[in-house]
Amino acid sequence: MQDNRPIKVLLVEDDSASAEIVNALLDQDSGIFEVEWVMSLKDGLSKLAANFFDLVLLDFGLPDSDGLDTFLRLQKHSPAVAIIPLTATGDESLALKAIQLGAQDYLFKGAISRQLLTKAMRYAVERKRGEEALRRAHDELERRVMERTAELSATNSQLKEQIAERRRAEEELRRLSHRLVEVQESERRNIARELHDEIGQLLTGLKLVIEMVSRLPAEELVEHCHKAQVLVNELMGHVRDLSLDLRPAMLDDLGLLHALLWHFERYKSQTGVTVTLTHTGIENQRLTPEIETAVYRIVQEALTNAARHAGVTKIRVNAYADAESLNLQIADDGKGFDVQASLAAGQSSGLAGMRERAQLLGGLLMIDSVVGKGTVINATLPLE
Ligand SMILES: Nc1ncnc2c1ncn2[C@@H]1O[C@H](COP(=O)(O)OP(=O)(O)OP(=O)(O)O)[C@@H](O)[C@H]1O
Ligand SMILES: [Mg+2]
Repeated sequence: MQDNRPIKVLLVEDDSASAEIVNALLDQDSGIFEVEWVMSLKDGLSKLAANFFDLVLLDFGLPDSDGLDTFLRLQKHSPAVAIIPLTATGDESLALKAIQLGAQDYLFKGAISRQLLTKAMRYAVERKRGEEALRRAHDELERRVMERTAELSATNSQLKEQIAERRRAEEELRRLSHRLVEVQESERRNIARELHDEIGQLLTGLKLVIEMVSRLPAEELVEHCHKAQVLVNELMGHVRDLSLDLRPAMLDDLGLLHALLWHFERYKSQTGVTVTLTHTGIENQRLTPEIETAVYRIVQEALTNAARHAGVTKIRVNAYADAESLNLQIADDGKGFDVQASLAAGQSSGLAGMRERAQLLGGLLMIDSVVGKGTVINATLPLE
């Protein structure tokens, strides 16, 4: 025993003679043991319920219980207390059974000496304490394992979510890259068509005119030269338009604001629609070419849509940039349309293209439209 307090013993024994022998052997005056004595299991259990005991010396044959049952009932009631069965001499199989079921030791009533009893009791209490400590450690371990398992499974599901999220992002990026290639292809198709249909035709006409010149009488030369000049002028106009549509030089040379203002002029002359621009933060700074291009293209598409579908004569554009982001708004008070339906129809390349341009730069583009009221497009592009 580590501490010096007396070992608290509950003696459950209905036979007074046996009880007195045990009592005498335990010698309460020594201060090592403190013994209480009851004569039935029922009294034993109520003592155990009310007070703390280190150990129970338990007779198996009691008036209200008999045999192993006595042991099992007491053990169930007080699992933390050490139990030493007191059995009749020769009833070894019963005693062994009790040991197997968790009793700390056993004593034969007829063969108890003071030394044997004291030693058995001390060992029993020590063993029980050891067992209890082990059980507590085991419970604690179990609890920690469960805690850790729960943590791990939470982390695991978080990881799974992150992986799924990442997959979605990768999938979206793949889709966008694919779209980008498609868009480039379709732009090339348009240029090829323009080169073939418009410029090719004009060049063929010019070639014919030049061929005829050599065969013409002198007086008709002036007129044909004039025809050739008209064709060359037309050609130059087409080439200029084509080049401007592809990429206006002022976007690279002078920056976003000038390119937008120039585009609004050209747009007005082509469509009759006026654009009012309000802006902050884009006057005196150049943004990255990617951002400038994206903003320019988004505005370009939004304006084209407004002219084609909204039935308006005025459009408002607002561009606001601070250190973190550029916010863009294009609004018309025209016919409006069902955005979800248009996007879901999958045929719109203009609306989807605007959104994708914003997304590719880590930004966001929202289209709000109410039929009969108009359309507002808001885009935010990160600048960092
Ligand atoms: N500002 C607007 N006002 C009214 N309807 C609009 C507006 N913008 C778009 N829409 C509607 O949404 C549809 C999809 O627009 P989107 O720009 O994607 O395609 P589109 O202009 O028809 O063709 P494109 O692919 O050449 O741009 C349009 O056909 C039109 O019905
Ligand atoms: Mg469009």
